[in-house]
Amino acid sequence: MPKITALNHVAVVVENMEQSLAFWRDALGIELHELRDVPAEKSRVAFLPVAGAEVELVMPTSDDSGVAKYLAKRGQGMHHLCLEVDDIEGMLAQLKSKNIRLINEEPRAAADGKKYAFIHPESTGGVLVELYQL
Ligand code: CO
Repeated sequence: MPKITALNHVAVVVENMEQSLAFWRDALGIELHELRDVPAEKSRVAFLPVAGAEVELVMPTSDDSGVAKYLAKRGQGMHHLCLEVDDIEGMLAQLKSKNIRLINEEPRAAADGKKYAFIHPESTGGVLVELYQL
């Protein structure tokens, strides 16, 4: 059985990365671990580690991205939470067998080799859930 092993990160969608970093990095004092563009998702992300997990800030870099549409519809705020899993293919198969609606039927590969997939909020009680296999 695939197993959830950790809470990896909680993601917040933001309009302006510098303004958001002024809060998360400068006011709260959390170290900025990584800031990079994710061309596949037309977004820029920042990761700020907190005790084994991270806060992820997500900013759209194009008006036609999924994140931009989310921002236009709902405004800034909580976007998703991400759980680590030891076998992402196995977990996606398990979820499908339980009629859970998936956004990504197959895992996608991040630039650093991590596999990830999103579960639709319709099946999770309104929370967009990301799965990571490191
Ligand atoms: Co994420």
